[in-house]
Amino acid sequence: VVLVVDFGAQYAQLIARRVREARVYSEIVPSTMPVAEMLAKNPRAIILSGGPSSVYAEGAPSLDRSLFEAGVPVFGMCYGFQLMATTLGGTVDDNGAREYGRTPLHVSKAGSTLFEGTPTEQPVWMSHGDACSAAPEGFTVTASTDVVPVAAFENDEKKLYGVQYHPEVMHSTHGQQVLEHFLYRGAGIEPNWTTTNVVEEQVAAIRAQVGDKRAICGLSGGVDSAVAAALVQKAVGSQLTCVYVDHGLMRKGETEQVEKDFVAATGAKLKVVDAEKRFLDALAGVSDPEEKRKIIGREFIRVFEQAQLEILQEEGPEVAFLVQGTLYPDVVESGGGTGTANIKSHHNVGGLPDDIEFQLVEPLRQLFKDEVRMVGQELGLPEEIVQRQPFPGPGLGIRIVGDVTKDRLDLLREADAIAREELTAAGLDRDIWQCPVVLLADVRSVGVQGDGRTYGHPIVLRPVSSEDAMTADWSRLPYETLAKISTRITNEVADVNRVVLDVTSKPPGTIEWE
Ligand code: XMP
Repeated sequence: VVLVVDFGAQYAQLIARRVREARVYSEIVPSTMPVAEMLAKNPRAIILSGGPSSVYAEGAPSLDRSLFEAGVPVFGMCYGFQLMATTLGGTVDDNGAREYGRTPLHVSKAGSTLFEGTPTEQPVWMSHGDACSAAPEGFTVTASTDVVPVAAFENDEKKLYGVQYHPEVMHSTHGQQVLEHFLYRGAGIEPNWTTTNVVEEQVAAIRAQVGDKRAICGLSGGVDSAVAAALVQKAVGSQLTCVYVDHGLMRKGETEQVEKDFVAATGAKLKVVDAEKRFLDALAGVSDPEEKRKIIGREFIRVFEQAQLEILQEEGPEVAFLVQGTLYPDVVESGGGTGTANIKSHHNVGGLPDDIEFQLVEPLRQLFKDEVRMVGQELGLPEEIVQRQPFPGPGLGIRIVGDVTKDRLDLLREADAIAREELTAAGLDRDIWQCPVVLLADVRSVGVQGDGRTYGHPIVLRPVSSEDAMTADWSRLPYETLAKISTRITNEVADVNRVVLDVTSKPPGTIEWE
């Protein structure tokens, strides 16, 4: 394992991903972890991330010198670089020599371990206030900028390396190459972390954990739960039962996809609960978005627990495991627990026996989203499931502005299916993050269709590009694609006489309308 020490900026996750892109397994640890604990993980290398502090700020995170003396190769980036410099006796000045954004880097030692084979002038991404003016003893300066005399250094003998910039961001055009040089040349690591290994490791771990007990898994139709279920199915086969709650708020073909494609690909036992009527009854007359979300969430838990109870009754009390598709970013963001949590099921609603406790099986805890997709592919899940765009749990219920009825849902399903079909036909699926299609059921507009006046509803297209859904921009779709979607929706979907495009970024707009 390669450890990425997180100094509190948003960069550690990105670095961990870049290391994995180099086919080397990486994990993030907080900078407050004692060095002895880090070393106890037997890391092949350690990377010190950037961070928001100045090394001179009060309370700035520091590192014990012993980290650099353990014989483990270390690569410091930005704050990590400055910390390495000051800890080992170099000089970092708080002299206002700041650089932000794209900066030309002058490589002074082209044959160095990090810069071998990269240009002597290369753009890098900087973000720092303080600057290093003298490298620690025994280190060679390998690059500078117009502002900073020491922008990179290395001590090949001790396997210690550092750069002032952020090699992990795209704008540092040779950053990945420099990182790989550290991993392969500096630390001597073989790039052999592959999806096949992940699957084998996880299957073995699940078998060891579940033993001969039974497990259940809620399927949402999304990528994560499908891949988690497929892994558990591969590991323990018929000991797994999947539960899929059809709340009637799904898009066209979605339930069938889970029923047919998922089962065909995995052979999993599937219990589909048709709860459309229950959800629509509960939602009748409700148009407030928060109210809708609460109702859908509440009903979902009730139906899911009822299904669990039925499985318990059918299969006996040895159903002890609940499979969840928790991803690595969730684990990191919630403080990086070790994954042995026990959750007590909500017996207050579903009427589960008091003494039943589920243990969680979370086979995706180490993985990023793109890795989950690769694992799904490796497991033979169909493209439509693996490459699926995010879809909110409350489904189309929060894409109808106004109250939710079966007729409105059917109408929106048609419009949504057309938009999806045309985006796929135009080859745009990978370019957009997701494209909510929204029905403005409370708004009417006048149109002319055929020979007559119509008084129908607008449909909104909300295509966005994003990396993590925290921020987003509206996608600049080709006019021809937009025109085609608009023509087809107004021609083929009754009661819709207008298609409008949402051109708002997030913030200020959210991705969904409700
Ligand atoms: P917003 O609308 O907050 O959405 O910009 C961000 C991302 O989250 C999805 N989303 C949800 N996903 N349950 C989910 O599982 C929800 O209640 C929910 N609400 C929004 C949304 O589709 C987007 O990808």
